[in-house]
Amino acid sequence: MSDFPQDIFSEPADIDVDTLANLGPLRAMAGVWEGRRGLDVKPKADGPRKQAFVERIELQPIDPQTNGPQLLYGLRYHTHVTKPEQVKTYHDQVGYWLWEPATGTVIHTLTIPRGQTAMASGRATADATAFELLATQGQETFGICSAPFLQHAFRTVEFRIQVTINSDGTWGYEEDTVLMIRGQEAPFHHTDRNLLSRIAEPTPNPLAR
Ligand code: HEM
Repeated sequence: MSDFPQDIFSEPADIDVDTLANLGPLRAMAGVWEGRRGLDVKPKADGPRKQAFVERIELQPIDPQTNGPQLLYGLRYHTHVTKPEQVKTYHDQVGYWLWEPATGTVIHTLTIPRGQTAMASGRATADATAFELLATQGQETFGICSAPFLQHAFRTVEFRIQVTINSDGTWGYEEDTVLMIRGQEAPFHHTDRNLLSRIAEPTPNPLAR
């Protein structure tokens, strides 16, 4: 038995096309953001290394998305990270933040140009100001997929992100990417955190314009 409907093709009627009005807890993250207080703990041959970083994230609403009866609202994002005062990319990431109102589910997809993609999920209420999402390697849903070199040398077994939305309009994240590094017994916690301040409002989704 599953909780899913028998009819997997029919779409919901009367879909509200205004994504910004239907993003649940993700509404507070829509827009263009800058974070100047990022901290990365990364793997190096001689052990963990801490690095400060600056980040720009653009999160823009997409039109409502249906899978038959399933209705998702979401933000498309691009994250660009550099070391302070540098131009060279330190970390780049694209994907979606999705909200399914019917189940109170948040989904975060991420693709990074190391040759890796992951999909994390968690539950939240529509007015939540804190939520946590998890992706686990080896799962058929909400998993992690790496290209062969990373799988061999830096196997990512878990990805976790906690988001906190603050009353002053900022938001922040703390994430833990758990790597099994070849030749090392203990899992490596590649952690990142930042606090984001808005630099521009979001652009409404195409159908809402
Ligand atoms: C703001 C977030 C992040 C930053 C700033 C960042 C930065 C970095 C840096 C600089 C390294 C390389 C260490 C070096 O070679 O000097 C690294 C390694 C790695 N990162 Fe991240 N990372 C972030 C998030 C993530 C996420 C979300 C994932 C995957 C879900 C990830 C997966 C990896 C992996 C697998 C490695 C090891 C591969 C290698 O060293 O070649 N990272 N990260």
